[in-house]
Amino acid sequence: MTGEPTDGPCTFGAVAVTSSTIVPVRVLVTGGAGYIGSHLVDALCEAGHEVRVLDNLSTGKAENLAGRLDRVHLVNGSILDAEIVEQEVAAAQLVFHLAAAVGVRHIVDDPLNSLLTNTRGTENVLAACFRHWRKVLVASTSEVYGKTSKFPMSEDDDRVLGSTSVHRWSYSTAKAIDEHLALAYAAKQLPIVIVRYFNSYGPRIDERGYGSVVANFLRQATAGEPLTVHGDGSQSRCFTYVDDTVRGTMLAAFTPEAEGLVFNLGSTRETPILELAELIKQSVGSDSPIAPTSYESYYGPGFEDTRRRVPDVSRAREILDWEPTITLEDGLARTIEWWVKTHG
Ligand SMILES: NC(=O)c1ccc[n+]([C@@H]2O[C@H](COP(=O)([O-])OP(=O)(O)OC[C@H]3O[C@@H](n4cnc5c(N)ncnc54)[C@H](O)[C@@H]3O)[C@@H](O)[C@H]2O)c1
Repeated sequence: MTGEPTDGPCTFGAVAVTSSTIVPVRVLVTGGAGYIGSHLVDALCEAGHEVRVLDNLSTGKAENLAGRLDRVHLVNGSILDAEIVEQEVAAAQLVFHLAAAVGVRHIVDDPLNSLLTNTRGTENVLAACFRHWRKVLVASTSEVYGKTSKFPMSEDDDRVLGSTSVHRWSYSTAKAIDEHLALAYAAKQLPIVIVRYFNSYGPRIDERGYGSVVANFLRQATAGEPLTVHGDGSQSRCFTYVDDTVRGTMLAAFTPEAEGLVFNLGSTRETPILELAELIKQSVGSDSPIAPTSYESYYGPGFEDTRRRVPDVSRAREILDWEPTITLEDGLARTIEWWVKTHG
Protein backbone atom coordinates (compact mmCIF):
# COMPACT_ATOMS: atom_id res chain seq x y z
CA MET A 1 0.00 0.00 0.00
CA THR A 2 2.85 2.33 0.67
CA GLY A 3 5.55 3.44 -1.73
CA GLU A 4 7.65 6.47 -2.27
CA PRO A 5 6.21 9.22 -4.45
CA THR A 6 7.34 8.76 -8.05
CA ASP A 7 6.39 12.18 -9.39
CA GLY A 8 7.43 15.60 -8.26
CA PRO A 9 5.35 17.43 -5.68
CA CYS A 10 1.89 18.49 -6.74
CA THR A 11 2.47 22.20 -7.16
CA PHE A 12 -1.25 22.68 -6.87
CA GLY A 13 -1.15 21.51 -3.28
CA ALA A 14 1.58 23.99 -2.43
CA VAL A 15 0.55 27.04 -4.45
CA ALA A 16 -1.47 29.67 -2.62
CA VAL A 17 -4.71 29.28 -4.49
CA THR A 18 -7.78 30.93 -3.03
CA SER A 19 -11.34 30.11 -3.93
CA SER A 20 -11.60 33.32 -5.92
CA THR A 21 -8.42 32.74 -7.94
CA ILE A 22 -8.56 29.09 -8.81
CA VAL A 23 -6.13 28.03 -11.51
CA PRO A 24 -7.72 25.48 -13.89
CA VAL A 25 -6.46 21.98 -13.17
CA ARG A 26 -7.00 18.41 -14.33
CA VAL A 27 -9.28 16.92 -11.72
CA LEU A 28 -10.28 13.33 -11.01
CA VAL A 29 -13.61 12.81 -9.25
CA THR A 30 -14.18 9.25 -8.04
CA GLY A 31 -17.91 8.65 -7.67
CA GLY A 32 -18.50 11.61 -9.99
CA ALA A 33 -21.58 10.06 -11.57
CA GLY A 34 -23.30 9.90 -8.19
CA TYR A 35 -25.62 12.39 -6.57
CA ILE A 36 -23.11 14.74 -4.87
CA GLY A 37 -20.28 13.82 -7.27
CA SER A 38 -22.20 14.94 -10.36
CA HIS A 39 -23.02 18.32 -8.78
CA LEU A 40 -19.36 18.68 -7.89
CA VAL A 41 -18.45 17.88 -11.50
CA ASP A 42 -20.86 20.64 -12.63
CA ALA A 43 -19.20 23.13 -10.30
CA LEU A 44 -15.68 22.09 -11.38
CA CYS A 45 -16.59 22.42 -15.06
CA GLU A 46 -18.15 25.81 -14.45
CA ALA A 47 -14.92 26.92 -12.75
CA GLY A 48 -13.02 25.90 -15.90
CA HIS A 49 -11.38 22.70 -14.70
CA GLU A 50 -10.79 19.63 -16.84
CA VAL A 51 -12.64 16.71 -15.24
CA ARG A 52 -12.35 12.94 -15.41
CA VAL A 53 -14.76 10.74 -13.49
CA LEU A 54 -14.04 7.23 -12.23
CA ASP A 55 -17.31 5.51 -11.35
CA ASN A 56 -18.58 1.94 -11.63
CA LEU A 57 -22.15 3.21 -12.00
CA SER A 58 -23.37 0.99 -9.17
CA THR A 59 -25.53 3.76 -7.72
CA GLY A 60 -24.30 6.57 -9.97
CA LYS A 61 -25.78 7.19 -13.41
CA ALA A 62 -24.18 8.39 -16.64
CA GLU A 63 -27.30 10.52 -17.14
CA ASN A 64 -26.26 12.59 -14.09
CA LEU A 65 -23.43 13.85 -16.30
CA ALA A 66 -25.54 14.07 -19.45
CA GLY A 67 -25.15 17.81 -19.91
CA ARG A 68 -21.39 17.56 -19.44
CA LEU A 69 -20.19 14.60 -21.47
CA ASP A 70 -18.60 16.85 -24.09
CA ARG A 71 -16.23 18.17 -21.40
CA VAL A 72 -16.10 15.35 -18.87
CA HIS A 73 -14.50 11.99 -19.48
CA LEU A 74 -16.35 9.19 -17.71
CA VAL A 75 -14.31 6.05 -16.99
CA ASN A 76 -16.60 3.15 -16.08
CA GLY A 77 -14.41 1.33 -13.57
CA SER A 78 -13.99 0.50 -9.94
CA ILE A 79 -11.83 2.02 -7.22
CA LEU A 80 -11.19 -1.62 -6.27
CA ASP A 81 -9.23 -1.95 -9.52
CA ALA A 82 -5.83 -0.65 -8.41
CA GLU A 83 -4.52 -0.41 -11.98
CA ILE A 84 -7.28 1.91 -13.20
CA VAL A 85 -6.98 3.97 -10.04
CA GLU A 86 -3.23 4.29 -10.60
CA GLN A 87 -3.71 5.48 -14.20
CA GLU A 88 -6.43 7.97 -13.36
CA VAL A 89 -4.65 9.43 -10.36
CA ALA A 90 -1.42 9.76 -12.36
CA ALA A 91 -3.26 11.71 -15.07
CA ALA A 92 -4.82 14.14 -12.57
CA GLN A 93 -3.43 17.06 -10.59
CA LEU A 94 -6.10 17.01 -7.91
CA VAL A 95 -8.37 14.18 -6.71
CA PHE A 96 -11.81 14.33 -5.12
CA HIS A 97 -12.57 10.91 -3.64
CA LEU A 98 -16.31 10.45 -3.31
CA ALA A 99 -16.83 6.88 -4.60
CA ALA A 100 -18.32 4.72 -1.87
CA ALA A 101 -21.06 2.30 -1.03
CA VAL A 102 -23.43 4.85 0.47
CA GLY A 103 -26.58 4.66 2.53
CA VAL A 104 -27.43 2.65 5.58
CA ARG A 105 -29.79 0.48 3.51
CA HIS A 106 -26.94 -0.62 1.19
CA ILE A 107 -24.66 -1.31 4.10
CA VAL A 108 -27.28 -3.39 5.90
CA ASP A 109 -28.17 -5.29 2.69
CA ASP A 110 -24.60 -6.04 1.62
CA PRO A 111 -22.22 -5.39 4.49
CA LEU A 112 -19.22 -7.20 2.98
CA ASN A 113 -19.07 -5.43 -0.38
CA SER A 114 -19.84 -2.09 1.20
CA LEU A 115 -17.07 -2.48 3.71
CA LEU A 116 -14.52 -3.56 1.10
CA THR A 117 -15.43 -0.72 -1.25
CA ASN A 118 -15.19 1.82 1.52
CA THR A 119 -11.87 0.58 2.91
CA ARG A 120 -9.88 -1.09 0.08
CA GLY A 121 -11.16 1.34 -2.52
CA THR A 122 -10.05 4.33 -0.46
CA GLU A 123 -6.76 2.61 0.32
CA ASN A 124 -6.16 2.27 -3.45
CA VAL A 125 -6.97 5.92 -4.10
CA LEU A 126 -4.83 7.27 -1.26
CA ALA A 127 -1.86 5.02 -2.03
CA ALA A 128 -1.93 6.16 -5.67
CA CYS A 129 -2.19 9.81 -4.58
CA PHE A 130 0.84 9.28 -2.37
CA ARG A 131 2.84 7.58 -5.12
CA HIS A 132 2.08 10.38 -7.58
CA TRP A 133 1.95 13.11 -4.94
CA ARG A 134 -1.55 14.34 -5.72
CA LYS A 135 -3.61 16.44 -3.37
CA VAL A 136 -6.77 14.54 -2.39
CA LEU A 137 -10.07 15.48 -0.78
CA VAL A 138 -11.78 12.58 0.98
CA ALA A 139 -15.58 12.62 1.39
CA SER A 140 -16.53 11.36 4.82
CA THR A 141 -19.73 11.47 6.79
CA SER A 142 -21.53 12.61 9.93
CA GLU A 143 -22.01 8.87 10.54
CA VAL A 144 -18.47 8.77 11.96
CA TYR A 145 -19.83 10.41 15.13
CA GLY A 146 -22.06 7.37 15.65
CA LYS A 147 -24.53 7.70 18.49
CA THR A 148 -22.76 10.40 20.44
CA SER A 149 -24.90 12.48 22.76
CA LYS A 150 -22.76 15.60 22.52
CA PHE A 151 -24.29 18.33 20.38
CA PRO A 152 -23.33 20.11 18.26
CA MET A 153 -20.74 17.67 16.95
CA SER A 154 -17.24 19.10 16.53
CA GLU A 155 -14.64 17.55 14.30
CA ASP A 156 -12.36 16.48 17.16
CA ASP A 157 -15.12 14.96 19.31
CA ASP A 158 -15.07 11.34 20.42
CA ARG A 159 -16.90 8.78 18.30
CA VAL A 160 -19.50 6.59 20.03
CA LEU A 161 -20.44 3.39 18.24
CA GLY A 162 -22.55 0.30 18.78
CA SER A 163 -21.63 -3.35 18.60
CA THR A 164 -19.84 -4.88 15.60
CA SER A 165 -22.77 -7.29 15.30
CA VAL A 166 -24.91 -4.35 14.13
CA HIS A 167 -23.93 -3.91 10.47
CA ARG A 168 -24.92 -0.25 10.22
CA TRP A 169 -21.87 0.72 12.28
CA SER A 170 -19.54 -0.71 9.64
CA TYR A 171 -20.18 2.33 7.42
CA SER A 172 -19.11 4.66 10.22
CA THR A 173 -16.09 2.48 10.96
CA ALA A 174 -15.01 2.22 7.31
CA LYS A 175 -15.28 5.97 6.80
CA ALA A 176 -13.31 6.54 10.01
CA ILE A 177 -10.58 4.21 8.72
CA ASP A 178 -10.58 6.29 5.51
CA GLU A 179 -10.06 9.40 7.60
CA HIS A 180 -7.28 7.75 9.63
CA LEU A 181 -5.57 6.67 6.42
CA ALA A 182 -5.81 10.14 4.91
CA LEU A 183 -4.45 11.68 8.13
CA ALA A 184 -1.65 9.12 8.19
CA TYR A 185 -0.65 10.22 4.68
CA ALA A 186 -0.92 13.83 5.84
CA ALA A 187 1.62 12.95 8.53
CA LYS A 188 3.88 12.07 5.60
CA GLN A 189 3.19 15.58 4.21
CA LEU A 190 0.72 14.51 1.50
CA PRO A 191 -1.77 17.37 1.02
CA ILE A 192 -5.16 15.97 2.02
CA VAL A 193 -8.44 17.39 3.29
CA ILE A 194 -11.47 15.59 4.72
CA VAL A 195 -15.08 16.74 4.63
CA ARG A 196 -17.90 15.21 6.66
CA TYR A 197 -21.25 15.66 4.94
CA PHE A 198 -24.49 15.96 6.88
CA ASN A 199 -27.62 14.73 5.01
CA SER A 200 -27.22 16.40 1.65
CA TYR A 201 -30.35 16.63 -0.51
CA GLY A 202 -31.25 18.22 -3.82
CA PRO A 203 -31.85 17.38 -7.48
CA ARG A 204 -30.59 13.89 -8.55
CA ILE A 205 -31.12 12.57 -5.05
CA ASP A 206 -31.63 8.83 -5.18
CA GLU A 207 -34.16 6.90 -3.15
CA ARG A 208 -31.57 4.20 -2.53
CA GLY A 209 -28.95 6.72 -1.41
CA TYR A 210 -27.90 8.29 1.83
CA GLY A 211 -30.48 11.04 1.85
CA SER A 212 -33.20 8.60 0.96
CA VAL A 213 -35.66 10.03 3.45
CA VAL A 214 -36.16 13.17 1.33
CA ALA A 215 -36.45 11.12 -1.89
CA ASN A 216 -38.78 8.60 -0.24
CA PHE A 217 -41.10 11.30 1.04
CA LEU A 218 -41.06 13.04 -2.35
CA ARG A 219 -42.01 9.85 -4.16
CA GLN A 220 -44.70 8.99 -1.67
CA ALA A 221 -46.14 12.51 -1.51
CA THR A 222 -46.27 12.95 -5.30
CA ALA A 223 -47.82 9.48 -5.76
CA GLY A 224 -50.44 10.14 -3.06
CA GLU A 225 -49.07 7.25 -0.98
CA PRO A 226 -48.62 7.32 2.82
CA LEU A 227 -45.35 8.92 3.95
CA THR A 228 -43.60 6.24 5.99
CA VAL A 229 -41.97 7.72 9.08
CA HIS A 230 -39.74 5.37 11.05
CA GLY A 231 -40.39 5.29 14.78
CA ASP A 232 -42.19 8.31 16.23
CA GLY A 233 -40.52 10.76 13.82
CA SER A 234 -38.94 12.83 16.59
CA GLN A 235 -35.43 11.79 15.46
CA SER A 236 -33.86 14.75 13.67
CA ARG A 237 -31.29 15.54 11.00
CA CYS A 238 -29.70 18.68 9.56
CA PHE A 239 -30.64 18.65 5.89
CA THR A 240 -28.12 20.43 3.71
CA TYR A 241 -28.88 21.62 0.19
CA VAL A 242 -26.46 20.18 -2.36
CA ASP A 243 -25.23 23.57 -3.59
CA ASP A 244 -24.02 24.29 -0.06
CA THR A 245 -22.45 20.81 0.17
CA VAL A 246 -20.59 21.32 -3.10
CA ARG A 247 -19.50 24.89 -2.37
CA GLY A 248 -18.00 23.71 0.92
CA THR A 249 -16.27 20.84 -0.86
CA MET A 250 -14.72 23.17 -3.44
CA LEU A 251 -13.58 25.61 -0.75
CA ALA A 252 -12.05 22.78 1.29
CA ALA A 253 -10.09 21.58 -1.74
CA PHE A 254 -8.96 24.98 -2.93
CA THR A 255 -8.09 26.65 0.40
CA PRO A 256 -4.46 25.95 1.29
CA GLU A 257 -5.11 26.51 5.04
CA ALA A 258 -7.58 23.60 4.96
CA GLU A 259 -4.89 21.03 4.24
CA GLY A 260 -4.56 18.29 6.83
CA LEU A 261 -7.91 19.16 8.45
CA VAL A 262 -11.37 17.64 8.82
CA PHE A 263 -14.46 19.81 8.21
CA ASN A 264 -18.11 19.35 9.08
CA LEU A 265 -20.24 20.48 6.14
CA GLY A 266 -23.85 20.62 7.20
CA SER A 267 -26.80 22.83 7.90
CA THR A 268 -27.22 23.80 11.55
CA ARG A 269 -31.03 23.70 11.35
CA GLU A 270 -32.25 20.59 13.07
CA THR A 271 -35.40 19.13 11.54
CA PRO A 272 -37.38 16.27 13.09
CA ILE A 273 -38.34 13.68 10.47
CA LEU A 274 -42.03 14.19 11.19
CA GLU A 275 -41.63 17.91 10.46
CA LEU A 276 -39.81 17.08 7.22
CA ALA A 277 -42.71 14.83 6.19
CA GLU A 278 -45.22 17.62 6.88
CA LEU A 279 -43.09 20.18 5.02
CA ILE A 280 -42.78 17.95 1.95
CA LYS A 281 -46.51 17.18 1.97
CA GLN A 282 -47.25 20.89 2.13
CA SER A 283 -44.71 21.86 -0.55
CA VAL A 284 -45.99 19.19 -2.93
CA GLY A 285 -49.64 19.98 -2.09
CA SER A 286 -50.24 16.35 -1.17
CA ASP A 287 -52.94 14.97 1.09
CA SER A 288 -51.06 11.70 1.70
CA PRO A 289 -51.38 10.50 5.28
CA ILE A 290 -48.32 10.08 7.48
CA ALA A 291 -47.79 6.42 8.37
CA PRO A 292 -45.57 5.57 11.33
CA THR A 293 -43.61 2.35 10.66
CA SER A 294 -41.13 0.39 12.71
CA TYR A 295 -37.42 0.51 11.87
CA GLU A 296 -37.42 -3.30 11.94
CA SER A 297 -39.90 -3.57 9.09
CA TYR A 298 -37.51 -1.59 6.86
CA TYR A 299 -34.03 -2.48 8.10
CA GLY A 300 -34.60 -5.84 9.80
CA PRO A 301 -34.29 -6.75 13.47
CA GLY A 302 -31.74 -5.10 15.77
CA PHE A 303 -31.42 -1.86 13.78
CA GLU A 304 -30.12 1.13 15.74
CA ASP A 305 -30.76 4.70 14.67
CA THR A 306 -29.09 7.87 15.87
CA ARG A 307 -31.56 10.32 17.41
CA ARG A 308 -29.88 13.58 16.43
CA ARG A 309 -27.01 14.77 14.27
CA VAL A 310 -26.08 18.42 14.51
CA PRO A 311 -22.80 19.84 13.20
CA ASP A 312 -20.63 22.51 14.72
CA VAL A 313 -19.51 24.35 11.59
CA SER A 314 -17.29 26.94 13.23
CA ARG A 315 -14.13 25.45 11.71
CA ALA A 316 -15.58 25.66 8.18
CA ARG A 317 -16.79 29.20 8.91
CA GLU A 318 -13.39 30.34 10.14
CA ILE A 319 -11.06 28.60 7.69
CA LEU A 320 -13.21 28.21 4.58
CA ASP A 321 -15.50 31.20 5.08
CA TRP A 322 -18.29 28.71 4.44
CA GLU A 323 -21.79 28.70 5.80
CA PRO A 324 -24.91 26.99 4.52
CA THR A 325 -27.04 29.59 2.74
CA ILE A 326 -30.06 27.75 1.32
CA THR A 327 -33.04 27.33 3.65
CA LEU A 328 -34.81 23.99 3.85
CA GLU A 329 -37.92 25.55 2.29
CA ASP A 330 -35.95 26.93 -0.70
CA GLY A 331 -33.95 23.76 -1.12
CA LEU A 332 -37.06 21.59 -1.05
CA ALA A 333 -38.79 23.86 -3.58
CA ARG A 334 -35.82 23.46 -5.97
CA THR A 335 -35.70 19.72 -5.39
CA ILE A 336 -39.44 19.35 -5.97
CA GLU A 337 -39.19 21.34 -9.19
CA TRP A 338 -36.54 18.89 -10.44
CA TRP A 339 -38.52 15.89 -9.17
CA VAL A 340 -41.69 16.90 -10.99
CA LYS A 341 -39.73 17.56 -14.21
CA THR A 342 -37.94 14.20 -14.13
CA HIS A 343 -40.52 11.93 -12.52
CA GLY A 344 -43.56 13.27 -14.35
N1 LIG B 1 -25.49 12.16 0.46
C1 LIG B 1 -25.12 12.48 1.70
O1 LIG B 1 -25.83 13.16 2.43
C2 LIG B 1 -23.80 12.01 2.24
C3 LIG B 1 -23.60 12.12 3.61
C4 LIG B 1 -22.38 11.74 4.12
C5 LIG B 1 -21.36 11.30 3.30
N2 LIG B 1 -21.58 11.18 1.97
C6 LIG B 1 -20.45 10.72 1.14
O2 LIG B 1 -20.44 11.46 -0.06
C7 LIG B 1 -19.98 10.64 -1.13
C8 LIG B 1 -20.99 10.70 -2.27
O3 LIG B 1 -22.23 10.17 -1.81
P1 LIG B 1 -23.60 10.33 -2.60
O4 LIG B 1 -24.63 10.66 -1.62
O5 LIG B 1 -23.41 11.19 -3.79
O6 LIG B 1 -23.89 8.83 -3.03
P2 LIG B 1 -23.92 8.14 -4.46
O7 LIG B 1 -24.24 6.69 -4.21
O8 LIG B 1 -24.81 8.87 -5.37
O9 LIG B 1 -22.42 8.30 -4.94
C9 LIG B 1 -21.43 7.33 -4.78
C10 LIG B 1 -20.85 7.06 -6.15
O10 LIG B 1 -19.79 6.12 -6.01
C11 LIG B 1 -19.90 5.18 -7.07
N3 LIG B 1 -19.24 3.94 -6.64
C12 LIG B 1 -19.65 3.05 -5.70
N4 LIG B 1 -18.78 2.04 -5.61
C13 LIG B 1 -17.78 2.30 -6.51
C14 LIG B 1 -16.60 1.62 -6.88
N5 LIG B 1 -16.25 0.46 -6.33
N6 LIG B 1 -15.83 2.18 -7.84
C15 LIG B 1 -16.17 3.36 -8.44
N7 LIG B 1 -17.29 4.03 -8.12
C16 LIG B 1 -18.08 3.51 -7.16
C17 LIG B 1 -21.39 5.02 -7.30
O11 LIG B 1 -21.72 4.49 -8.56
C18 LIG B 1 -21.86 6.46 -7.13
O12 LIG B 1 -21.80 7.16 -8.34
C19 LIG B 1 -19.75 9.26 -0.54
O13 LIG B 1 -18.39 9.10 -0.21
C20 LIG B 1 -20.58 9.27 0.74
O14 LIG B 1 -20.08 8.39 1.71
C21 LIG B 1 -22.79 11.51 1.42
